[in-house]
Parts: sequence; C-alpha cells; structure tokens
Amino acid sequence: MSARMERHHFGPARRAVPAIGQGTWYIETAQRTAAVAALRRGLDLGMTHIDTAEMYGNGAAEQIVGEAIAGRRDEVFLVSKVLPQHASRSGTISACEKSLARLKTEYLDCYLLHWPGAHPLEQTISAFEQLKRAGKIRAWGLSNFDVDGLEEALTIAGRGGIACNQVLYHLQERAIEHAVLPWCEAHGVAAVGYSPFGHGDFPGPRSAGGRVLQEIAKAHAATPRQVALRFLVRQRSLFTIPKASSAEHAAENAGAGDLQLSDAEIARIDAAFPRGRAPRSLPML
Ligand SMILES: NC(=O)c1ccc[n+]([C@@H]2O[C@H](COP(=O)([O-])OP(=O)(O)OC[C@H]3O[C@@H](n4cnc5c(N)ncnc54)[C@H](OP(=O)(O)O)[C@@H]3O)[C@@H](O)[C@H]2O)c1
Repeated sequence: MSARMERHHFGPARRAVPAIGQGTWYIETAQRTAAVAALRRGLDLGMTHIDTAEMYGNGAAEQIVGEAIAGRRDEVFLVSKVLPQHASRSGTISACEKSLARLKTEYLDCYLLHWPGAHPLEQTISAFEQLKRAGKIRAWGLSNFDVDGLEEALTIAGRGGIACNQVLYHLQERAIEHAVLPWCEAHGVAAVGYSPFGHGDFPGPRSAGGRVLQEIAKAHAATPRQVALRFLVRQRSLFTIPKASSAEHAAENAGAGDLQLSDAEIARIDAAFPRGRAPRSLPML
C-alpha cells in the first residue's frame, strides 16, 4: 500500500478510500495480461478503489478484475453496478450474485445503481438493504443521479444510506459543481467523478487549457494528466477513477496521489476550464 496516495472518507461509513482509483470500462478490449497487470500495478501503487459494472463487456471486465484481485481482496475497495433494467428487487439480488461470481469474491464494498431507470427506486434500495444484511455488499450508492433523484433516494433510505453518487466529472465537464456536488457535501455522500480524462478526449498540448496544464505540471516534475487528476480530487468529498489498460498509464495516474497544487495553481486551472452555466439536466456518458 502506497503511503503517498491521499485518502478521503467515503460517504457515511467514513471509510478511508484512495482519492484516485481505477476504472474498467472497455478494459476487456485490451490484451488480457496487460489489463490484469495494469490493475495490479495500480493496486501496488495505492489505487485500491476499483470500479466495475455488470455492463462492462457484458461481465468480461468483472472477470478481469476478479483475476487482478485474486489473493489480495482485502486490499481492495471494490465497486460494481447493477443495470437499471435489472434493478427490480429480485433482479438486483440476482445481478449482484452474478457479479460476485465473476469477481470471485464474497462481497462488494459498494454496489451502485448505474443510472436511474424504470424500476421504482424503493425496490432497488430495498434489495440493496437486503444484500447488506446478507453480507454481500458493505454499502450501496447511486450513479448519474441529479439532485431530484438524490432527494428521492434520501427520502426512501434516510440519511446515512447513500454512500456515493458516481457522476461525469472532468476538466471540460464540470456541471456537477453547480448542484450535485454541493448536495453530496451537505449530505455526507461521496462524489465519485468518472471519465476524468474525458473518456479519451484529454486537452491536447496545443490547446490553451492544455498549455496551462503543461506549465503547472512542469513546475512539479509531473504530467498534465496528473495535474488534472489532482484538480478533480481537490475537495475531500471528491474521488476519481481513471481507467488505464497499461501498467505505464496506471503508474502515471497513481503518481497524482501525492501531488499538491497551490491555491494559485487551482485558480489557474479553474480559469482555463470554466465550469460554465448550470445544465438543464445532468450530463452523463
Ligand atoms: N457510472 C457511469 O455511468 C460511468 C460512465 C463512464 C465511466 N465510468 C467509470 O469511470 C471510469 C473512467 O472513465 P472512462 O473509462 O470513461 O474514461 P477516462 O478514464 O476518462 O479515460 C480513459 C482513457 O484514457 C487513457 N489513459 C488512461 N491513463 C492514461 C495515461 N496516464 N496516459 C495516457 N492515456 C491514459 C486510457 O487509455 P488506455 O486504456 O490505453 O490506458 C483510455 O483511453 C470507467 O472506466 C468506469 O469505470 C462510469
């Protein structure tokens, strides 16, 4: 476990979880040994929060994660997600059991509803609570929920129920800062930002914003991606989960774990990537 990886309290259980973790969407498209090695290198360097989902590669990403965490389950904060179309009371339980089998583990640290769907939220939350009582999950959370959806979940579950809301958050998409992030902070819910590199659309070195990242990176002997990751976890309620399918990329991302940016540098990044107006609806991928 890297002593250099910053940890933040994750939701109401206040468990210390690395601010920078690892995503796995499309990881199954990489060469399997490289993908497993990337995740293991990330674990070695303290990125022990691993995010996956039944959706990713129709379960193939979970199988890769299962291989990567074999023999080191206790190190990992393992998160998976149920698809909205499976999120009835019985469907959620069955989806979780299938995820556990693919991941070759007895429990998830957190289980999320991937995005709001047609099944009543009461049913999904009731299944989450049943899974918790059975020891199959330690906590549950939501993903792609706007403030109205979060309020609905809070009314059903009460304070202390929702561990996190996983939402789109990168330098060029800061919509959550208007309402969702303040709501999460006010209610002790972890805000996990996904697609921190814009899902493959990271600001290039010739763009104005990219140049700002390069200059700040140079001052810290760091890289622009490391600077971006640091900015995205600059508050204690924030977490980020970059996906890497090579050990080199994983190591670079983990290198952001102890980078410290000054207030002036944060202000420069803030100005270079303005958060824009509040959106009508929460953006998601
Ligand atoms: N809840 C949701 O609805 C939702 C939606 C989207 C994503 N997510 C989660 O968030 C995770 C991250 O988001 P994402 O996968 O969409 O995109 P991302 O993390 O923003 O970007 C991934 C891309 O960045 C590249 N990359 C990573 N580290 C790099 C490095 N150090 N140098 C150069 N390139 C690097 C990866 O390449 P390589 O693969 O070649 O390393 C990949 O092409 C997902 O994997 C998933 O777990 C959740």
